[in-house]
Amino acid sequence: QRNIAVMTSGGDAPGMNANVRAVIRTAIFRGSRAFAIYEGYTGLVRGGPEYIREMHWHDVRGWLAEGGTNIGTARCKEFRERAGRLQACFNLISAGIDALVVCGGDGSLTGADLFRAEWPSLVEELASSGKISADQATQYATLNICGTVGSIDNDMASTDATIGAYSSLARICQAIDYIDATANSHQRAFVVEVMGRHCGWLALMAGIATNADYIFIPEKPASKKDWEDHMCGIVGKHRKRGKRKTIVIVAEGAISNDLKPITCKDVLKVLVDRLGLDTRITTLGHVQRGGTAVAYDRILATRQGVAAVDAVLAGNADTPSPMIAVAENKIVSRPLVDAVRLTKQVAEAIENRDFAKAISLRDAEFNE
Ligand code: F6P
Repeated sequence: QRNIAVMTSGGDAPGMNANVRAVIRTAIFRGSRAFAIYEGYTGLVRGGPEYIREMHWHDVRGWLAEGGTNIGTARCKEFRERAGRLQACFNLISAGIDALVVCGGDGSLTGADLFRAEWPSLVEELASSGKISADQATQYATLNICGTVGSIDNDMASTDATIGAYSSLARICQAIDYIDATANSHQRAFVVEVMGRHCGWLALMAGIATNADYIFIPEKPASKKDWEDHMCGIVGKHRKRGKRKTIVIVAEGAISNDLKPITCKDVLKVLVDRLGLDTRITTLGHVQRGGTAVAYDRILATRQGVAAVDAVLAGNADTPSPMIAVAENKIVSRPLVDAVRLTKQVAEAIENRDFAKAISLRDAEFNE
């Protein structure tokens, strides 16, 4: 029997509640006690009964479809410092927690991986300063951590889908379907900004699913002249063929060749000045992140929650912490440390505009 805690961290994503529910119920079903850490890493650093609460089967009733995360989340500065992680270690040991499931994006899982790596030295420091007993230091010598990936951005390497990405995509498509009707009525162009931070997955998939005329993503920058000419060529051609509306999707992280952001205003100006189109901007914002989880996310989050509990129950100190992923529709367990490293390498390559490297890193991952 173990004491398994679950927390959500980073930006909320639809399906996080389903994941928490699955972790809690699977832990109880397998004979362990289940806990929730409220308010992400902030709760871990603050500790105590307000933030670390035992959860029972009925506590998560009705959570399967609900959007957001009912146990709260935060982007926590203190946990980035060793002092914060030392306090978090103390709080977990004081609450008797010996396994932790973290549902979050790449930043949150990077933090989890660091915590896991530092854990033995944190325990040693707490023991030598007399904050925990020698018995506690032995009992809690290792912490089993498991990551599940919750983020609307779908920006984590080693998994085909992150929890929340398909719900967000559905929300974006629904919004663009609405925009289509009004655009079509007035023969207007709409420039729609979607989220995704440094990752163009949401923009690209929404573009395919809504038959957008043009898409800007961070992974494919072009010089100002090139994108202007290319976009105007395509949009102009569509209009000549009788299309009454134009939809251009701009990922929030879209950049041009000189690393300058491509904003919706830049795109609007070109559509107005060069094509004379009556153009409006719609920034979808946090509407993309809220709302209920689509069936895919409910199922993914539930399957991953079950797998996460089984992974921490099976884990031992010699195996690296797992991250539960989905690959070719199968729930798989991958080393968290590798997923975090690969995600960082891809992000760095994109930041350095080394797209060939970014693509080869991803190809290598898929050919493993
Ligand atoms: O990572 C999820 C995400 O929604 C990004 O797509 C977006 O850039 C960011 O979070 C917005 O963050 P905030 O919660 O600070 O508004």
